[in-house]
Amino acid sequence: MRQSSLVVVANRLPVDDSVAPDGACEWRRSPGGLVSALHPLLQHTPATWVGWAGGTGPAPMLADIDGVRMHSVPLARDDVRDHYEGFANATLWPLYHDSVEQPVYHRRWWEAYQRVNQRFAEAAAEAAEPEALVWVQDYHLQLVPGLLRAIRPDLRIGFFLHVPFPPPELFMQLPRRAELLLGMLGADLVGFQRAQAAHNFAQLATKVLQLPATDRRIAVGERVVRIGAFPVSIDMTEMEALARRPDVTQRATRIRRDLGDPQHVILSVDRMDYTKGIEQRLKAYSELLATGHVKVRDTVMVQVAVPSRERVEQYQILRERVEREVGRINGEFGRVGEPAIHYLTQPFDRAELAALYRAADIMAVTPLRDGMNLVAKEYVAARVDDGGALLLSEFAGAAAEFPQAFLVNPHDLEGLKLTLMHALQATPVDLTGRMQSMRQHLRVHDIRAWARSYLTSLDQTGNLVTQLATT
Ligand code: ADP
Ligand code: G6P
Repeated sequence: MRQSSLVVVANRLPVDDSVAPDGACEWRRSPGGLVSALHPLLQHTPATWVGWAGGTGPAPMLADIDGVRMHSVPLARDDVRDHYEGFANATLWPLYHDSVEQPVYHRRWWEAYQRVNQRFAEAAAEAAEPEALVWVQDYHLQLVPGLLRAIRPDLRIGFFLHVPFPPPELFMQLPRRAELLLGMLGADLVGFQRAQAAHNFAQLATKVLQLPATDRRIAVGERVVRIGAFPVSIDMTEMEALARRPDVTQRATRIRRDLGDPQHVILSVDRMDYTKGIEQRLKAYSELLATGHVKVRDTVMVQVAVPSRERVEQYQILRERVEREVGRINGEFGRVGEPAIHYLTQPFDRAELAALYRAADIMAVTPLRDGMNLVAKEYVAARVDDGGALLLSEFAGAAAEFPQAFLVNPHDLEGLKLTLMHALQATPVDLTGRMQSMRQHLRVHDIRAWARSYLTSLDQTGNLVTQLATT
């Protein structure tokens, strides 16, 4: 097979399958996320993306997307159950998000995690030309750097964790903690969203593996592994261009009209996940309705919550609870034709998301813990009119970059209600000043800056980065 000088390895490929008008299955580039981040770089260098196409059974043969080769890794039903739904999303995901749900430990899941990581490492080894650069993404694949180095010591290997990395008190619970740390330490550079996460990792390397470590470097035998914070971002230019499109602006006006032209539209857009603080937000809103601080005719809430990881029990329970609560709030406070909460579980295309962002006076992003939260950044990017207010949890990575947001502790119900009222009552001058500062920050720290800074650090010869800088 053809080999590449740059290989991205992520649990998911940047494609979605969809059904064409003639009923055939089609693969399309999925919007947003890593693919937009890496697009400029990948176009100018022979690159391969190794990942899972979703589903079970044999790996589909996929055409190149924008010149990037798609190398799909097959997962059997047991792999999906025990690796993706099990160890990745019922053990690591809750543990890494402050254990807001109880992590579940099963030995069978660990075996699947090892097996699937091995398969990804072999696929990456096959796709990489001699001395290529391989960039491994996220918590599903923490063993890949170590496994890949064992097969291909010639490669430069990067690892980036998109989710938080927990403090030692939590990480120490993991039955296979030493193996996971060693897996990550197979990389030349381990990147995190926040400096605190790099600090936690360094502490654990010393505590669990007795390795000499600072918050920048860890010595592993003869090798030095560099670690650091590289806060991920979004494609600001793409979102701004969408938000400026006349059809998107008209759609935003139309959305407000369909909502009854209220004084205030409050929007939330989340994957249906217990880390997102959806229940806390609904409770705060319901109490404000009960005390009359907000009135259904003046204020409308739109909650978009796309179902996610639907076969994992905690996600099923959450969905039932959210839907019961939305039903209760609408039953109690809504009127005929005027629900208190508009609740939508559909995936939207980027233009519709941009229109929703432009229609919203307040974007409520209140996760209990979040590595970054791209929705908060997308909202700021979409506000080309410098309008709108961002209500943002202190526990989202984005809070470190947006001190001008209305910052909240989502566990503090009274604080959440007060800050929401503060945002609802803020003057246009106050809001514009805040939004301009956040937009200025985002313009400099966009997705290209993120990719460039990570790859500059990883690629010490600088060839790939020079190409990225010139695109
Ligand atoms: P997480 O990575 O935990 O899902 P983020 O906020 O970082 O949370 O990223 C979510 C991404 O999914 C954003 O790019 C957002 O635009 C997208 N998204 C969320 N809800 C929808 C939806 N209903 N339709 C399409 N894309 C969505
Ligand atoms: C988070 C993770 C990603 C993951 C995404 C969607 O952003 O960091 O790795 O792809 O959620 O979750 P899913 O389980 O659908 O891939």
